[in-house]
Amino acid sequence: MNQLLETSAAYLKCAHTIVVFTGAGASSESGIATFRDALTGLWERFDAQRLATAQAFKADPSLVWGWYEWRRAQAQSVLPNPGHAAVAQLGRLVSKITIVTQNVDSLHERASSENVLHLHGSLSSPRCFECAIPMDVPDVDGYNLGYGSRIEPPVCPECGGLCRPGVVWFGESLPLDVWEAAVAAVAECDVLLSIGTSGAVYPAAALPKQALSSGAVVIHINPDRVAVSSENEISLVGKGGVILPQLLARAFN
Ligand code: APR
Repeated sequence: MNQLLETSAAYLKCAHTIVVFTGAGASSESGIATFRDALTGLWERFDAQRLATAQAFKADPSLVWGWYEWRRAQAQSVLPNPGHAAVAQLGRLVSKITIVTQNVDSLHERASSENVLHLHGSLSSPRCFECAIPMDVPDVDGYNLGYGSRIEPPVCPECGGLCRPGVVWFGESLPLDVWEAAVAAVAECDVLLSIGTSGAVYPAAALPKQALSSGAVVIHINPDRVAVSSENEISLVGKGGVILPQLLARAFN
């Protein structure tokens, strides 16, 4: 493992343009549940089809809105972890960095990362379900939330429609402008760091392979070993909040 860490650090040190691609695992050390981890993942405990689709929202708006407000309140109650801090530090050390995240929390921004692309939307950007105008996020301080807390979604001041979470639900397309910016960043990067993703959900999961085919080095950071298919692909086994600080220390100190 040490040799792989040294090799990865050498690639990072020489890189001019980096993409950091993150999934739920990057936020797990902050205390936010991932999706597919056995027993603890959100989809192990809650029914994705009953909560994370437009049909579910139409069928029971207050259940779906309440669940996402519970997730938003939870995300606001935790802090960025050392992995988020290392990514922000990396942004201050290299010429160009783009954060492409599947996560809907704002922990990269709260760790002072800039240029964050949210492929699957954000809990902080709700909009009207009918006319799609952006709507204000309610103040969560007034919430006493648990799973199953039904909350009536706010009503759109423009059209009277209901406020929906600003996330990409199953069956919905990714925001085109965000996707195109991510693909462009991946096409030109020297190194793509893939941190804390199971690679289960497309098209996001295709980005590391797109980076490899554009000649970049891809470094996976995950407690589960990631199968690698080329000499330009490395799997660092461990937690992002542990490995990233080690990687930066070797590359830049
Ligand atoms: N550091 C790094 N990786 C970790 C850590 C950690 N501390 N803890 C867990 N992981 C890894 C797990 O091993 C797993 O491979 O993070 C990954 C989390 O995988 P998922 O729960 O599937 O999350 P993600 O890959 O982000 O899911 C993609 O699926 O449900 C949709 O929209 C949702 O954006 C999400 C998408």
